[in-house]
Amino acid sequence: MENDPVNVLGEMMARGHERVCCHFDARTGLRAIIAIHSTRLGNALGGTRRWCYPNEHEAMYDVLRLSEGMTCKAVCANLPMGGAKSVILLPEKGLEPTEAEARAMGRFIDTFDGAYIAAEDVGLDAQFIDWMLMETDHAMGGDTVSTGGDPSPFTARGTFNGLSACLRHAGRRAGLDGMTVAVQGLGHVGYDFCRRVHETGGRLVVADIDSTRVERVIDEFAAMAVDPGEILSVPCDVLAPCALGAVLGPDEIADVQASIICGAANNILLDPERDAPELARRGILYGPDFVVNAGGLIWLAGLHLGYSREELDRRNDLIEDTTLEILEQARTRPSTWHAAMAMVDRRLTEGTACEEKHAHAG
Ligand code: NAI
Repeated sequence: MENDPVNVLGEMMARGHERVCCHFDARTGLRAIIAIHSTRLGNALGGTRRWCYPNEHEAMYDVLRLSEGMTCKAVCANLPMGGAKSVILLPEKGLEPTEAEARAMGRFIDTFDGAYIAAEDVGLDAQFIDWMLMETDHAMGGDTVSTGGDPSPFTARGTFNGLSACLRHAGRRAGLDGMTVAVQGLGHVGYDFCRRVHETGGRLVVADIDSTRVERVIDEFAAMAVDPGEILSVPCDVLAPCALGAVLGPDEIADVQASIICGAANNILLDPERDAPELARRGILYGPDFVVNAGGLIWLAGLHLGYSREELDRRNDLIEDTTLEILEQARTRPSTWHAAMAMVDRRLTEGTACEEKHAHAG
């Protein structure tokens, strides 16, 4: 489906998007898309992905799916924020980011007047954010110009809180003593997640396409490495996909040996409507990605909203309670993903997150 031309308005109507804008900057050659899924509960914060897509349709699908996921993430984290995402379409792989490119993106973001607030995603770092901030006030996660820095340690912490909920729901004590956790992807989030697994007594089996990242985790956390092609089907108790999305479809799910799946990657399932019930049928407990990986969003959105450090920590820890609530509610639903989507629909309809906004205003 991703290779088919996108019926943009049709997809927007089906997914509930408010606004999708394409931009070409003739001076720098920047090609970018900003997709705002929802501003129903507030302005929409979401990362900018910088990626070389095989064609523009894949970029459009990616930004539509990711922005929808951001609304779900913000709602489940009880943040008075909407959902959005942006992508920069690189003409070829491995192009180094430049100040001119980032500033062109900053000018594009500025045309949304704050309805869209950019942050880091795959392919972007704090320096890029700071460059964008030379042209707009509406970006988070820079090192110098804006606050926040790299949010990934907070994402790892939240994902670990989500894992604690999965363990509690499965009737296992919260520690990981004697358990094996398989981690796919040892980048910003995956590395910190591995550290937490190691510190709480878990055994690590890991894979990354970057061998230096694998060596580091072997050295520091006594991990065992497997080929990237084997990680999803390796014998383990917990599988944590922390690389890219869409890694689990029917074929991969049939080979999963873990009894829990809980990872930071966005859109882990190829088609959640179809794949999440299959996980349930196989007795595999799935911590929905947009619920457990909200730690980075909570950090940046929380700073944007003026929350204190204590409040940010409290909200990250609440990921455990929210995940547990969803896992319990899934007992009467086709899957944990369906239970999470029901929470999103309910809160959007009731405007629950809006009430949180008023409670914390000022
Ligand atoms: P990253 O780019 O730092 O790390 C990704 C890692 O996955 C890299 O080391 C890469 O070599 C590896 N990788 C790519 N393809 C692979 C494959 N087929 N097999 C094994 N390893 C592979 O990205 P980051 O920031 O750690 O994010 C990881 C995931 O978590 C992404 O899906 C991202 O969208 C999601 N996420 C990240 C957040 C954050 O705060 N950084 C927030 C919420 C979600």
